[in-house]
Amino acid sequence: MAVKPVHVAIIMDGNGRWARARGLPRTAGHRAGVEALRNTVRAAGDMGIRWLTVYAFSSENWSRPKSEISDLMGLLKLFIRRDLAELHHNGVRVRIVGERHDLEPDIRALLEEAESLTRDNDAMNLVIAFNYGSRNEIAAAVRRLASEAARGVLDPQGITAETLGAYLDTAGIPDPDLIIRTSGEQRLSNFLLWQAAYSEFVFLPCNWPDFGRADLAAAIDAFAARDRRFGGVDAREAVS
Ligand code: IPE
Ligand code: IPE
Ligand code: MG
Repeated sequence: MAVKPVHVAIIMDGNGRWARARGLPRTAGHRAGVEALRNTVRAAGDMGIRWLTVYAFSSENWSRPKSEISDLMGLLKLFIRRDLAELHHNGVRVRIVGERHDLEPDIRALLEEAESLTRDNDAMNLVIAFNYGSRNEIAAAVRRLASEAARGVLDPQGITAETLGAYLDTAGIPDPDLIIRTSGEQRLSNFLLWQAAYSEFVFLPCNWPDFGRADLAAAIDAFAARDRRFGGVDAREAVS
């Protein structure tokens, strides 16, 4: 049987180009992107994917025009308001990773509501990376480690890769097996740098609003055909 990824992470890119190709404003691309997200969560659930992480807003996206930022914040709110009940009904647990304190209080409240309402669900996990950047995440973890060491409650000699992992926003979340990026770009853009150490990558030419069930299925098939060695040798070679 084909190996299915436990955790699929998606860099949802290309909303702006999708809109431009249709002579529409960028915000229309973001709206269509939310529709693709909704369909992708359903499809991933149907395919038995246990963890789905989506990159929705990066710590660098603050450099965009104010109006676009406010559109993106509005869409996050709309997504949670409109979709939370369905997610909850389908047993989806929602978690948000990223910096919260520089978000508007009403957004923070919605994120907290989504997490607390769904905290006991276990059919599937949806992780939304919002105002997320890996370098900030790692720096924040190191700050906490350093302050605990300075207070004498943590032995610096005992710090391992696992220790650091447990201080990241993604503590308790398995590393992504498969990372998909749409829009033809082939880079991480500060997404899950630490967690992606042994992820498989699938880069798709389509823009995010055009991503559908068939694309997800094809990416999962491509993953199943990969030979993951984690630095070792493959199973057949090991016995010969
Ligand atoms: C992805 O689409 C959505 C976010 C980054 C929030 P873009 O807005 O980056 O679309 P392009 O890359 O400009 O086409
Ligand atoms: C990455 O896309 C962030 C998200 C998809 C949320 P960007 O469009 O911001 O990345 P770059 O600027 O092309 O690297
Ligand atoms: Mg982009």
